[in-house]
Amino acid sequence: MPVNRIHLILLSFFVLATFSACYAPETEPASEVEASYNVDLNVAHIMSLVLEPASDILWDSGGWVLDAYGYEELYPTTDDGWAFVRAQAAIVVETGNMLALPGRAEDNDAWMIYSEGLSKAGIMAMEAAQAQDKEAFFQAGGQIYSVCTACHQSYSPDIANRVENMAD
Ligand code: HEC
Repeated sequence: MPVNRIHLILLSFFVLATFSACYAPETEPASEVEASYNVDLNVAHIMSLVLEPASDILWDSGGWVLDAYGYEELYPTTDDGWAFVRAQAAIVVETGNMLALPGRAEDNDAWMIYSEGLSKAGIMAMEAAQAQDKEAFFQAGGQIYSVCTACHQSYSPDIANRVENMAD
């Protein structure tokens, strides 16, 4: 097949794709579409397997600790180190969405506000990591922590006490 012909076919494909994207029929309301995501993992799984490990790394990567040698800075010291914590922050961002899925969300009210708050705090941490801004990163860690605590106090008071000391 001559090269020009292939180009033409590809071109028509793109025109068609663009056209159908613009004129696609209205999508069905969410309630009528069968869910295509998997919610086998419950909220406790998401917490202990996804959110807690990622946020622990964030909290362990900001601020200072007092050890035998005096105050030691915890912040990443290399570009790779910051890239790694930025990736953990991305997990926190997306966990906000995971928690908001039907089948996980406990209501359509405060739960959604906390889930969204988690994503927003995660975005703050991502931006701070991108900028390698220690102060902003520390603030974002605190913001994430207050969202965890607020949601636990509303939805799982006994967890609230248990998880309280995790950020130390
Ligand atoms: C939108 C609400 C919400 C947010 C935000 C939230 N949690 Fe939770 N978390 C829960 C609920 C509800 C449970 C209890 C789940 C259960 O036992 O069924 C829980 C339980 C937990 C548990 C115990 C899991 C287990 O093994 O039983 C840990 C650890 C935890 N959360 C950590 C965190 C951390 C860390 C954050 C913040 C980075 C956070 N959570 C943010 C709602 C939330």
